[in-house]
Amino acid sequence: MESILTDSYAIYFDTQAYLALNKLVKAKNYSKIFILVDENTHRDCLPLFLSSVETTTDLEIIEMEAGETHKTIETCVQIWHALSELDADRKSLLINLGGGVVTDLGGFIASTFKRGIDFINVPTSLLAMVDASIGGKTGVDLGALKNQIGVINQPGMVLVIVDFLKTLNKRQQSSGFAEMLKHGLITNEGYWSELKGLTAIETLHPQIYTSIQIKNSIVLQDPTEQNLRKVLNFGHTLGHAIESYFLEKDEKNALLHGEAIAVGMILEAFLSFKLTGLGKHQLEDIKHTILERYKKVSFKEQDIKAILQLLKFDKKNSHGQVNFVLLKRIGEAVIDQQVPSNLFDEAFAYYEE
Ligand code: GLY
Repeated sequence: MESILTDSYAIYFDTQAYLALNKLVKAKNYSKIFILVDENTHRDCLPLFLSSVETTTDLEIIEMEAGETHKTIETCVQIWHALSELDADRKSLLINLGGGVVTDLGGFIASTFKRGIDFINVPTSLLAMVDASIGGKTGVDLGALKNQIGVINQPGMVLVIVDFLKTLNKRQQSSGFAEMLKHGLITNEGYWSELKGLTAIETLHPQIYTSIQIKNSIVLQDPTEQNLRKVLNFGHTLGHAIESYFLEKDEKNALLHGEAIAVGMILEAFLSFKLTGLGKHQLEDIKHTILERYKKVSFKEQDIKAILQLLKFDKKNSHGQVNFVLLKRIGEAVIDQQVPSNLFDEAFAYYEE
């Protein structure tokens, strides 16, 4: 697959990815290379990755604990200390080898350590390949509140090695697929239909490429999320609140990011039907397509109440107002929409019916 260019870095695929990395490492003469992994990517991805990296520069592996609950400033402090103790300097390189938690957190570590060192994202989950590793959003959660602390800072390159998807279980694969469905819903009805027709994740290569192109073209037009980039948050206003709520309530049975976003997309499609002209037939199509792939979550009255309370922490809010991304139709999103509070209960009722 041909590489995809952004305005400051390139996204390389498979064998091209290793060639690009080896070339860069040789040209840049880094003082040391650090690879950030979690215990899963340490075991499942690092051996394959290292077998294709050619360098004489010193390599150090830093391991963090896996999972969203470790995407915290405390983990950052541990890793900043590790870098310091292992003599990282401003000419060091950090390679983030992992899913969205590792690439978000690692990007933040690199952006802040000694005021910034180079970093490269090597996403190993579908979610990180099509979303988290692209576009320069880095950061950590604040308690259960998602991505409240962070900076936008672009990586030196992104290396998409599709073979790593084989290390994922079905649930993790489906989680990433939710972001791809979102790409169809916000930009391209034809792509949405193409995704609906897919049955196996192993055959996803062309769609991964399309999703990265869609995300990249949006980020290129609005890298710091002043306007257009907000469309990438369709399903995320309620989705993030749902994810945070379940993370805090029952860490062990928390929803994966894409599972929460899948619920958020149905709820926000319902709001779109009520407020921005999404047709009933398209609404039903969205609900049906998502529920075919994601287990229904059940919400008690007190859950909904607590989830709605969390909306006040959404990063798109301004002047005390919660701003939603809604759909005019499948393939066209509209940003900065306010939602009358009486519609939320209706939206949850529609999801559950
Ligand atoms: N994940 C949404 C964005 O990068 O803008």
